[in-house]
Amino acid sequence: MANNLKIPRHIAFIMDGNGRWAQQRGLQRSDGHRAGAEALKKMLIACSKKGIEAVSVYAFSCENWSRPQAEIKFLFSLISQFAKKELKTYADQGFRVRFSGDLSQLPKNTLNAINKVIDYSKNNTGMIVNIALNYGSRQEIVRAVNLILQSGIRSVDEQMVEDCLYTVGLPPLDLVVRSSGEKRLSNFMLWQCAYSELIFLDKFWPDFDENTLEEILKEYSLRDRRFGGIK
Ligand code: IPE
Ligand code: IPE
Ligand code: MG
Repeated sequence: MANNLKIPRHIAFIMDGNGRWAQQRGLQRSDGHRAGAEALKKMLIACSKKGIEAVSVYAFSCENWSRPQAEIKFLFSLISQFAKKELKTYADQGFRVRFSGDLSQLPKNTLNAINKVIDYSKNNTGMIVNIALNYGSRQEIVRAVNLILQSGIRSVDEQMVEDCLYTVGLPPLDLVVRSSGEKRLSNFMLWQCAYSELIFLDKFWPDFDENTLEEILKEYSLRDRRFGGIK
């Protein structure tokens, strides 16, 4: 069995539970987010070792603006640091970094850091890291519809919608994993996950590591993906 692991081409993580992880340890929510960033580093390396082509991660949703200002500020400074240091290192190793979401609303220094690493890694051919930031799936679909309308087209097909999503060019989303026991998608990649496998783990995001990925891939390998057909 161990040698029969099926490897998804594109896996997405809803990185949830940083706050509760911290609370359980008597720490601040910000400590949880810092630990979450460490887990993300481990997971990206582990995914690339497995030969996964693309990894999408939900880092900040459109709905997360309703959190306290201080937490939002902390998250964006963490994301800026992550872009300048970690993502730059991954870009040097061949990863291609891209983002999904309305980046125009981000703080200026975060936007600069992000644009730099997008540009720096744009010709890379290694694993794609797609970071959903100020992202909402309904917003993404509405944006796609508006892009199509602006082009003057009056009749739409699925391919046209696909081509106007942030994920254009990425492999089909095979698997969505959510941490922390919540069993919902929270406005994440609703179009893309039409035929994805879904895995919900109780573990909080900061506790994810290489072994967690191994468990996830074992579970994914047991799934019988029929796509409406019969076998
Ligand atoms: C996920 O952890 C990180 C973000 C949403 C930015 P949370 O901050 O949602 O942690 P919980 O769900 O409160 O434990
Ligand atoms: C989803 O987590 C968003 C991210 C992981 C960035 P939330 O913690 O914001 O989602 P809800 O509030 O539990 O739905
Ligand atoms: Mg949460």
